[in-house]
Amino acid sequence: MSLDKMEEKIQKKLDKLEEEGTLKGEELVITGVEKSPDGNAPRYKIEGEEGSFLKMNSNSYLGLHLNEEVIEAEEESSEKYGSGPGAVRFIHGTYKPHVELEEKLADFHGKESCVIYSSAYATMTGILRPLTSNETLILSDELNHNCIINGIRMAKPKGKDIYSHLDNDSLEEKLQEAAGTYDRVIVVTDGVFSMRGDYPDLSELVSKVRKYDSEFEDGVFTVMDDSHGVGAYGETGRGTTEVTGEEGIDLIVSTMGKALGVNGGYVVTKETIARYLRETSPFYIYSNPITAPEAEAATKSLEILDSERGISMLDHLSKMTNYFEDGLKNIGHEVIEGPHPVVPLMVRDTKKTRDMVDYLKENEVLATAIVYPVVPQGDESIRFQISADHTKEDLDYVLKKIDQFE
Ligand SMILES: Cc1ncc(COP(=O)(O)O)c(C=O)c1O
Repeated sequence: MSLDKMEEKIQKKLDKLEEEGTLKGEELVITGVEKSPDGNAPRYKIEGEEGSFLKMNSNSYLGLHLNEEVIEAEEESSEKYGSGPGAVRFIHGTYKPHVELEEKLADFHGKESCVIYSSAYATMTGILRPLTSNETLILSDELNHNCIINGIRMAKPKGKDIYSHLDNDSLEEKLQEAAGTYDRVIVVTDGVFSMRGDYPDLSELVSKVRKYDSEFEDGVFTVMDDSHGVGAYGETGRGTTEVTGEEGIDLIVSTMGKALGVNGGYVVTKETIARYLRETSPFYIYSNPITAPEAEAATKSLEILDSERGISMLDHLSKMTNYFEDGLKNIGHEVIEGPHPVVPLMVRDTKKTRDMVDYLKENEVLATAIVYPVVPQGDESIRFQISADHTKEDLDYVLKKIDQFE
């Protein structure tokens, strides 16, 4: 049988990944959650492991995935609409909760319209193709997320280039070089870069883009993936646009699977562009949407985020982030500081990073090792992610364990 021959080749590829140190390996299987032990952050049970684990690597920055009201909204909706959409949007798969969520997300971001997709990954790959012509150039930050990299490949633009990370002068050079050669330019960047918690100077980026708009027949426009920014920072959780004070990004892509605690992705933009995407974007047209219950759960999360309660959750999250950053510095560690709840502890050595993460796991703390070749040698770090359900007691425990590491 043909797969027998393939199996051998595939096994060799897997062995190579292992040799190179990039094999992801076996996944931890979560078997249960203790929601709020003694008023502290949730503790997770893991298959084959004793004890209960504190997650310092969750993207659920506000802890909304375990919020009672969000869970209740999802349960009530599944009673009403059932568990799945049963069809893609244009073949009777559009439910009232989808439409309401799109309206609320557009309002939240101050944009005319919103289109939801099954994930942020599907959103990014789904929008770049229809927005790209045969004469388009796409410029991308060198550290952009994989969904952007693959989205650009699938879009098949006439030209593609990367500019240096967060370097708006490098972007400007590329725009200058391209002037007159393409019909349009799409500049695409992450909002928050999730490995480091850093973000672009959006005002400078937008002003450079505007400077070159007249050099191209269809202009230059911007796409930003703020999956780690929305609901994670900014006084009201509007992410990188709020933190930088820049509203001029043309299309904002984000996820409902991180701070909103549910699942799915979306893009907010002008009404005409949104309408065009519904007509032409394959991941929208030919793939099921999130379920109606997921849409109602995300609407509830958004309602909580966009309220006084949301503001106080974000305030606590910001205080806990500062507390943890200061705590690491006080015990002699190097961190990349910033307002975002991703806190990278710079270990700068692959073996030591792995050893520290293993040691933390032995002490019931889950964190993520970011090591070579994912980052250059010398930039190895442990990525800690703070959440609004972390308490000082939780963080003191983690800091004490890190301090005791030998
Ligand atoms: C920047 C960025 N964009 C997109 C995604 C994908 O989000 P989703 O799980 O909704 O596809 C991620 C998740 O890791 C991300 O970090």
